[in-house]
Amino acid sequence: MQPSVMNVVLWSSFQVLFSLTYFNEVDASASSRGFGDNISWRTLDDGKKEAEASGLPMMVIVHKTWCGACKALKPKFSESKEISELAHNFIMVNLEDEEEPKDEAFSPDGGYIPRILFLDPTGAVHPEITNKNGNPSYKYFYSNADHVAAGMKEAQEKLTGDAYRQIHVGDEL
Ligand SMILES: *[C@@H]1O[C@H](CO)[C@@H](O)[C@H](O)[C@H]1NC(C)=O
Repeated sequence: MQPSVMNVVLWSSFQVLFSLTYFNEVDASASSRGFGDNISWRTLDDGKKEAEASGLPMMVIVHKTWCGACKALKPKFSESKEISELAHNFIMVNLEDEEEPKDEAFSPDGGYIPRILFLDPTGAVHPEITNKNGNPSYKYFYSNADHVAAGMKEAQEKLTGDAYRQIHVGDEL
């Protein structure tokens, strides 16, 4: 018995499709790194392109696998319905270990972790969006989901497409 060419073609396309789907799923869950599988996470490069195209601000979390404060924040973050809803209005990026950007804009008041920075749709970090409820010496450090949500609300107001463009144009006039 010889399998028909058509069967072979179909079978191999199926295998390709299956492995693509399989690996995409593995990738998608790996990329949350514990910060919530309901959120769609992007790499920094893809995120910048999407922010530019969509007019959405970006939220960037810098963290390390070995860091206790990061481990403590993850379940609070991932279990927060408020954060996962607000996340629809952001391009979400988490950067682990050596993914931390070298650019000093990502460490406005030091290199501690975890840090959360908000970027406008052009990819510029806005250091004025800080954790108003946190420690004034570590302005981008968050240990609590409500504080994260408060930062997201402020960023959403100030950095989303139209609001951002109006302020920006206003500055130039
Ligand atoms: C994540 O999605 C699941 C399924 O829709 C839902 O049951 C769960 O409450 C969501 N978690 C958060 C934190 O939003």
